[in-house]
Amino acid sequence: MSIRVRFMALIAILSLIAAVSLAVVSYKFNVGQALKEAKVKGELVYNYMSSSRDYFRTEQLPLIYAAAGRDIFIPELMSSFAVARGVFETFAKRTPDYVFKQATKNPLVPSNKADAQELELISFFHKNQNLKEKEGQMVKNGQTYYYFAQPIRVTDETCLVCHGDPADAPDEQVDIYGEENGYGWEVGDTVSALIVYVPIQKALDKAKELATSLFLVGTAGIAILMLLIWIFFSRYIVKPVIMLEQRATEISLGKNLHESIVTPSQDEIGSLGRAIDRLRISIEKMLQRYK
Ligand code: HEC
Repeated sequence: MSIRVRFMALIAILSLIAAVSLAVVSYKFNVGQALKEAKVKGELVYNYMSSSRDYFRTEQLPLIYAAAGRDIFIPELMSSFAVARGVFETFAKRTPDYVFKQATKNPLVPSNKADAQELELISFFHKNQNLKEKEGQMVKNGQTYYYFAQPIRVTDETCLVCHGDPADAPDEQVDIYGEENGYGWEVGDTVSALIVYVPIQKALDKAKELATSLFLVGTAGIAILMLLIWIFFSRYIVKPVIMLEQRATEISLGKNLHESIVTPSQDEIGSLGRAIDRLRISIEKMLQRYK
C-alpha cells in the first residue's frame, strides 16, 4: 500500500472517530441540558400547585366551612382536588404544553383515571412506602415527557366518608359524580399520584438534529481536508519521488546520463534530487574516463 493511501486512511479513521465523538458528546450534553431545564420547570409547576393546595386546605377550607356550615358540600369550594383540577385547567389554557394530572386508580372524576404507566407508578409508590417523590421520563403517544410525581396515600378514615361507601358520601357528591366510580377506597392504600409532565420531545429532536449536522459538517470538512492533502501529496511528494525513481533507474542502466535532474523544491525531496544528480554527474564522468 502506498504511503499516501496509508496516511490518508489513518487521517480518515482518526477524523471519523473525532466527528462521531463530537456528535455523541454534543447529543449527550444537549439532552442533559433539556432534562435539567424540564426538571426546573416541572418542579416549579408542581411546587406552585401544591402550595396553592396547601394554602387552600390550611387557610381557606376552615373559613369556608365556618361560613357555609357542614351540611352543604360544594366540591369547587370544599375539595382541594377539585380546586387543583380547576386551577390547572385554567393554567393549561394559557400554557397547553404542561400536564398536571391527579392520576388515580379509581377516581370520582373520569379524567383523573390513571393510565397503565401511571398505575405502575402508583403501585411503585405503594411498594416503597417511604418514597415521597419520583421523577423520570415517560413516553406517551410517541412523545417523551419528563415527569415529577408524589403519591397520595389514604392515611386515615376521614377520606372514606367520601371515598368509602357511597351511602356515607354527601348527597351533593353522589348527585354530581354518581355512585359507580371513586368509592371503596381503603385505609393504607396508595390511591393516586399527583404528576406534572413537561414535554421534552422537541428538545430531544433538536439535540439529535444538532448532533447529526455536526457529524455531517465534520465529515464534509474531513472530505475537503483529505482532497487538499491528496493534491498536496501528489504534487510535492508522489510525482517528484516517481520522477526520481525513474531517473535513478535510468542512471543505473546508463541511460540519459547527460540530462540533468531538476527538482525545484528546497525540501528533503529537493536534496534527494540534487544528491541523485551528483551521482549522475559522477557516473557520467567515470564512464567518460573509461571510454
Ligand atoms: C367531603 C368529601 C371528601 C373527602 C372527605 C375527601 N374527598 Fe377526595 N374527593 C372528593 C371529591 C368530590 C372529589 C372530586 C373533585 C373534583 O371534582 O375534581 C375528590 C377527589 C379526590 C382525588 C382525585 C381523584 C378523583 O377521585 O377524581 C383524590 C386523589 C382524593 N380525592 C383523595 C382524597 C383523600 C386522600 C382524602 C382524605 C385525606 C379525601 N380525598 C377526602 C371528596 C372528598
